[in-house]
Amino acid sequence: MTEGPNPLPFDSFMNPGLGKYSKAYKESIETPEKFYEGAAWILDWYSKWDSVLDKSNEPYYKWFVNGKLNVCYNAVDRHANGNRRNKAAYIWVDEKGNEKIVTYRGLYKRVNALARALREMGIRKGDRIAIYMPMIIEEPVAMLAAARIGAVFTLIFSGFGAEAIAERINDCGARLVITADGGYRRGKIVPLKESVDRALELTKTVETVIVVKHTGSEINVVEGRDYWYHDVVQDKELVEPERMDSNDPLFILYTSGTTGKPKGVVHGNGGYAVWIANTLKWAFDPQENDRWWCAADIGWITGHSYIVFAPLILGLTSILYEGSFDYPTPDQIWKLIAYYEADILYTSPTAIRALMKYGDEYPKSHNLSSLRVLGTVGEPINPVAWEWYYEKIGSSQCPIIDTYWQTETGGFVISPAIGIGVAPLKPGSATLPLPGIDPVIMDQDGKELPAGEKGFLVIRKPWPGLMIGLNNDDEKYRSMYFGKFKNMYFTGDYAIKDKDGYYWLLGRADEVLKVSGHRIGTIEVEDALLSTGIVAEAGVFGKPHQVKGESIVSFVVLKSGTTSESPVDTIKNGVRHNFGPILIPDEIHIVGSLPKTRSGKIMRRIIKAVYQDQIPGDITTLESGASVEEIKEAIEKFRKELKMANDQ
Ligand code: WTA
Repeated sequence: MTEGPNPLPFDSFMNPGLGKYSKAYKESIETPEKFYEGAAWILDWYSKWDSVLDKSNEPYYKWFVNGKLNVCYNAVDRHANGNRRNKAAYIWVDEKGNEKIVTYRGLYKRVNALARALREMGIRKGDRIAIYMPMIIEEPVAMLAAARIGAVFTLIFSGFGAEAIAERINDCGARLVITADGGYRRGKIVPLKESVDRALELTKTVETVIVVKHTGSEINVVEGRDYWYHDVVQDKELVEPERMDSNDPLFILYTSGTTGKPKGVVHGNGGYAVWIANTLKWAFDPQENDRWWCAADIGWITGHSYIVFAPLILGLTSILYEGSFDYPTPDQIWKLIAYYEADILYTSPTAIRALMKYGDEYPKSHNLSSLRVLGTVGEPINPVAWEWYYEKIGSSQCPIIDTYWQTETGGFVISPAIGIGVAPLKPGSATLPLPGIDPVIMDQDGKELPAGEKGFLVIRKPWPGLMIGLNNDDEKYRSMYFGKFKNMYFTGDYAIKDKDGYYWLLGRADEVLKVSGHRIGTIEVEDALLSTGIVAEAGVFGKPHQVKGESIVSFVVLKSGTTSESPVDTIKNGVRHNFGPILIPDEIHIVGSLPKTRSGKIMRRIIKAVYQDQIPGDITTLESGASVEEIKEAIEKFRKELKMANDQ
C-alpha cells in the first residue's frame, strides 16, 4: 500500500487502542465533507467532484458530484502500468490443484481484449450485460471489461437456474451474456451454457452470447448469436477507459427481499469504489505482500466487493478458488491455506461450522501459521464457532473480523477495524460502526431504544457505499428502505446495542432467510415451488439449523389430479431445473390444505407456529388482516393437517 495508517503490532488487537478509530469516527459524523474528501483519494479521478454529497433528492443521494473516474482503471491500469505490473492479481486454483497466476499486467491485457470485443459487438456505455460463470479468471475479467466501457453488468450466481436467469435478464434488459460451457462442483460438471440457452427462450433482449471454453463439454451453438470467448478476444488493441460520472451505475445485483421477485440493487461508480476500498483497509488492514483470500462466490455482493473491486483497487494479491472447501477431502481448505500461505481468510459462519464438524485433526495436520487475520460475513456467528475459528484456525493469534453488511450497503458497515484502531473483540458481536455509519436501534414507532433492548437496526446518515437505487423500482426503494423510518435506511435486521456500544445482530426482521449465508426470500421459494407445475399452493419459512444457520421448510398442496408417484422428488427436480439448486427446500411436507385468511392470503406464520408447536398466547400478532376466530380456526385445521401428514 502506498499510504495509510501504520499497522498495529498484530498481537495487540485484544488491547484497546481506539485513538485513531475514535478520531476518524468523530470526524466522519461531525464533518463528513472533510472526512470523505480525504477518503476519496484512495482512487485516481479524471476530474474532481464539485461537492462531496448532494442530498437534494432524498432518499437518492449523490456522492462526489460530477467527479469523473473509471473503476477498471483504478483496479487494473494504475497497477499494470506501475510498480505492481508483475505482481499477481489472482492466484487461481481449482479442486484438482490446477493453478493459474495472473499478474496485473496480464489482467490488463485480458480486460482490454474483452472490452474491445464487447465494443465490437455493439455494447456501449449504459448498455446492460449479464454474466453467468464459474469461479474462473474470466469472471472478474468480464466485470472489469464492462466497467471499463461503462456497460452495466449483472452477475448471476451460478447456482441459479434458467427461470431465475431469465427473470434478471428481463428486468434489466441485458443485450449480451457472458458464460462458460460449464463449471465444476465437487468433481461434477455444471452445464451453465445449457441453463443460458433455456433462459434465452424466455427473454427477448439478448443478441449475443460469449462462451468461455472451460470444461470442454459439448454445447449447443446458435449461429450468429453464440461466440467462443477465445475467438472474440484474439489480437485486440487497448481500449481507453470511459470517463464515468461518479453517480453512473456500475452494476446491478439482484437480491431477495420481502416480495417474490428479486430486487435489482444498483451500485454506482464513485461512492461504491471509495467505500469498498476504504472499508477493506479499515477492517482488515491488508499489507502489500499479503495473500488475501475472500472465500465467497463472486455471484454475491461479498465477491463483487471483496474478491474483485476492493482488493484490486488496493493492488493486493487474491486467491481465487473454483471448488468446495471440503472436496475432494475434508481438509481441502486447510491444504490450500498451507500451500498458498494465505495471510487473511474471510469466509462465512456456515463454512466454519461445517468444517468444525469434521473435527480438529484436519486443520491440525496443516501448517496454518501464515494466517494473520480471519474474517466472517453473511450471518451471525455463534460464539462456539467464533472460538473454534479463533483458537483452532488462528492459534489464538488472529483477530476475528466479523463484518456486518448487505448487498445494499455496498461494503462493510459494522465491523472491527484493525486498520484504524483496535477494540477488544467480543465473540458474536460485529463490534462498532465503521466511520461514516450512524446506526440506531429503533422500535416499531421509530423511538430510539436504550442499550440492551432488541429492535430494528436503522442507519441515520447516508454513506458512499449505499446503493444508488433499485432497477426500475422507485416505489420499492422508497418504501422498503426509507419508508419505515423517514429518510433513514432500514436494514431489515434486528439488533441489540450493548452498554459498550457494541452491536449484536439478531437476524432478519422480514421474510428473508439466510441459508448457509445465502440470502433467500421465502416468497421466491414459493414461486419456485409453484413453477414445478404440480404445486397448487405453498407456504415457506425458515427454521434454525446447526450448520447452515437456517434451513428451508415448505408445506405444499398438490394440484388436483397430480399423478406423480414421488411428488417430493418431482418438486425437487422441478425447482432445480427451473430456478436452480439453491432454492430447493430442505423439507417438503405435502398437506391437503393450508391456513388462509378470508381474502386468500396464506398464513405463513401460523404454519410455522403450528409446525414448531409454539402458538404464543396472543395470536392476534401472528397474522395481520385476519380475525382471532379465523386464526383459531386455521390453527386447528392445520394441526389436523399436520397430524395427517405425519401419520402417512
Ligand atoms: C446478514 C451479505 C450477522 C444480515 C454481505 C443482513 C449478518 C444480510 C452479517 C445481508 C454479520 C450479513 N452478522 N448478520 N456479520 N453479515 N448478515 O445482502 O441479516 O447477502 O441483512 O449481504 O446478511 O445479506 P446479503
